[in-house]
Amino acid sequence: MAIVEVEYLLKKYADLTAVNRVSFEVRPGEIFGFLGPNGAGKTTTILMLTTLLKPSGGRAVVCGHDIERHPARVREAVGYVSQEIAVDEFLTGRENLWLHGKFYHMPSKELERRIAEVAHMVDLTDRLQDLVGTYSGGMRKRLDIAEGLLHRPQLIFLDEPTLGLDIQTRRKIWDYIRQLRQEGLTVFLTTHYMEEADQLCDRVAIIDRGELKALDTPQTLKAKLGGDVITVGLADSSEAACQRARELFAGLDWVSRVEAHPQGLVLISRDGDATIPRLIQAASGSGLEIASVTLKRPSLDDVFLTYTGHDLREEEGGADAFRRMTRGVRQARR
Ligand SMILES: Nc1ncnc2c1ncn2[C@@H]1O[C@H](COP(=O)(O)OP(=O)(O)OP(=O)(O)O)[C@@H](O)[C@H]1O
Ligand SMILES: [Mg+2]
Repeated sequence: MAIVEVEYLLKKYADLTAVNRVSFEVRPGEIFGFLGPNGAGKTTTILMLTTLLKPSGGRAVVCGHDIERHPARVREAVGYVSQEIAVDEFLTGRENLWLHGKFYHMPSKELERRIAEVAHMVDLTDRLQDLVGTYSGGMRKRLDIAEGLLHRPQLIFLDEPTLGLDIQTRRKIWDYIRQLRQEGLTVFLTTHYMEEADQLCDRVAIIDRGELKALDTPQTLKAKLGGDVITVGLADSSEAACQRARELFAGLDWVSRVEAHPQGLVLISRDGDATIPRLIQAASGSGLEIASVTLKRPSLDDVFLTYTGHDLREEEGGADAFRRMTRGVRQARR
């Protein structure tokens, strides 16, 4: 049985449909990823599933409880780590965890024990007595995750757990997340890092502009593309040349799809190695000059492009994202 069942879940903010009747299921024990660009509706979906936001329509059952009829039971069963870092930097790591446990009415003895366990899990045992103001970004995020785990949830929602962190710290957080799965927890995470979805998640849902575009294992999503990805840059980038090349390449053996993208024409071919000489030959035969050709095995990036018609733009996870992540802390301090 599924641990999360979502049917036609809808959220409207005035005229804007942030989440548009999405349906999906999360299986117990899996790392389930919601992959989508800024504004796709990832956080809005999580807020509804954690009962922090009321849906405009549809229904969802989380850990066996209907989110609208039994919100308190849902909150007891799940942990939630928000996109913004929510720890208080004027308290120590231990004080942050203690406060959080008390919000859940955890008895002091049990809380003490549990703090030691979760701190060990995220490698913060040695720093618990230090003020969070002295922690690095990655340590704060780990403390945040530890808070979400304190009350032993069956399912944890991690909204962009590695946003704005450097690649080593991201990998370290992936290790913690894998460890959680090993301990039997189900993990629902959102990300706009392609690599994160690919390497970490058992199944990935692609969400764009509030709509669920695809859902499967990363391997199957890539395999469904049906071959290698060839990107061709033309010397003449006019629309007429592009259209001519498109028709020409679509007629080649093994080529199943040709699409025009800002970076050039993108071809999907069952045999990329054999297609390249043929397309060069075909182009020179019809007077089209090719400026560049690249061949690669399909990535989740290509899957995303195919399902949504645009790039995910990974760079959005950079400085701007970090600013958004720390915004919550600054607001909390005011
Ligand atoms: N409180 C709100 N009032 C009005 N519009 C909102 C509100 N919260 C979110 N939105 C809009 O809903 C859409 C989805 O936002 P959401 O925060 O769910 O996206 P997201 O996928 O989490 O994006 P990001 O990657 O930037 O975190 C966006 O267009 C956003 O502007
Ligand atoms: Mg978000």
